[in-house]
Amino acid sequence: MSATTRIKSLIERPAWKALAAHHQRLQKLHLRKLFADDPTRGERLAVEAAGLYLDYSKNRITDRTLKLLVQLAEESDLSGRIAAMFSGDKINTTENRAVLHVALRAPIGATILVDGKNVVPEVHAVLAKMASFSDRVRSGAWKGHTGKRIKNVINIGIGGSDLGPVMAYEALKHYSERSLTFRFVSNVDGIDFVEATRDLEPAETLFIISSKTFTTLETMTNAQSARDWLLHGLGRDRKAVARHFVAVSTNAEKVSAFGIDTANMFGFWDWVGGRYSMDSAIGLSTMLAIGPDNFYAMLKGFREIDEHFRNTSFERNLPVLMGLLAVWNNDFLGAPTVAVLPYEQYLKRFPAYLQQLTMESNGKHVTLAGKKVEYQTGPIYWGEPGTNGQHSFYQLIHQGTRLIPCDFIAFGHALTPLGRHHDILLANVFAQAEALAFGKTPEEVIAEGTPAALVPHRVFEGNRPSNVILADRLTPEVLGKLVALYEHSVFTQGIIWNIDSFDQWGVELGKVLAQRIVPELESKAAPKLKHDTSTNTLIRHYRTLRQTK
Ligand code: F6P
Repeated sequence: MSATTRIKSLIERPAWKALAAHHQRLQKLHLRKLFADDPTRGERLAVEAAGLYLDYSKNRITDRTLKLLVQLAEESDLSGRIAAMFSGDKINTTENRAVLHVALRAPIGATILVDGKNVVPEVHAVLAKMASFSDRVRSGAWKGHTGKRIKNVINIGIGGSDLGPVMAYEALKHYSERSLTFRFVSNVDGIDFVEATRDLEPAETLFIISSKTFTTLETMTNAQSARDWLLHGLGRDRKAVARHFVAVSTNAEKVSAFGIDTANMFGFWDWVGGRYSMDSAIGLSTMLAIGPDNFYAMLKGFREIDEHFRNTSFERNLPVLMGLLAVWNNDFLGAPTVAVLPYEQYLKRFPAYLQQLTMESNGKHVTLAGKKVEYQTGPIYWGEPGTNGQHSFYQLIHQGTRLIPCDFIAFGHALTPLGRHHDILLANVFAQAEALAFGKTPEEVIAEGTPAALVPHRVFEGNRPSNVILADRLTPEVLGKLVALYEHSVFTQGIIWNIDSFDQWGVELGKVLAQRIVPELESKAAPKLKHDTSTNTLIRHYRTLRQTK
């Protein structure tokens, strides 16, 4: 019997049933009372590890909730599943693959076996190749076809081959080589490519074609446009491609067929999921921007959280706690979304990055055994950097009818301090978490002299959960820690829900249908359409529109 079938179905587990009963009793309990009854709550319900401080005291939980959540993790064999991931077991069962993003940051002497082969030396060989290439481009030793040095780097990729690179570039811009311009093209909407290249010189531009499969329609379409743009700018000399294109992929055959010299290909492996790949060769643009030493520091940060996740008791384990709280909020409090709110401008793309990490991983409707789940799985992640969101959607978080747990992320230091800005920024983080938890009672509103008719409008119910994550400052190492924190929180949630967090079959159907529709849009003669009447009419309408000048 496999490990997954030995475990009771989620709703049959004693801890799940106990949590359901416990939730009934807790429903009326307000965070105001929980804090009033326990003067140490704010210190007790906080954990610090690897330089990340997590305050989870403003969640709607008691010590019993935590105990039951930890019990749920044990009944779900979380420890066994963590060990299975770290030892290279094929835990991505629907694709029969190991899940080894942790090997991407393993120390050089480590041994992690996949099908009996230690993968760590290969990981370090690719890192060394990336470092040597990055040094050559950054120093100007790598020249373009006409002998000019490279000034612009464009990463072409989508999903995990874009969101990680662009997020990391933005997050670590402070550390980046400012004489190089970095752009990221992902959308098959041609405007993305046109805008990214309109002011650039082909002779000074390097394209990184990032695609695990090297078959993704958007990326391949953009890559072809990039090749045309380059060749058009460089007198149609096909030899130019070798100096201006490199590839990051697992598919050497397709890379070569595209015309990229496989000597300029940076490999990775099928045991790295796209959304878990920003620290693989997919991070080549990151390394070009921040340099190899900073990239290695980022890997060190990842590794510290990996070790913490693997070796720490669940009660003190940051990713486990975050994952269990996410399950509690999602399945018992019925909160359908999570807002991620970084109070750090450099993390402006972090919520978008997390959307793929969390939702492509845990947006699943069947268990590992293929049975329809009887509970909610992955919540919707979204967010914007603070304080901008405060003047936009926070109204709904504070006074709307839905419960939206929030993750606030903030730092002790601004990377470039400017007057009073940072204290004002941080005051807002703490104020928001406080306002969400404690709100403002009708009595407090009346005591302010508010006219009776306005009182209900000015009441804040409070009791709205949040986590606050604090770190010293946003360094490459800390970015690695933050990403690993969420990766392992997502893992924890997936184990509880008993789903495959590492496949993404849900993106296939639309891809296949689009491939079928493309020729129907492009054909000269009116095609025989066999879709539903809505799709048929839309296609005909579009064909009419595109004929008009
Ligand atoms: O959207 C589906 C997906 O397969 C993602 O998981 C992946 O990150 C993205 O497409 C890009 O895939 P590739 O790197 O193979 O081009």
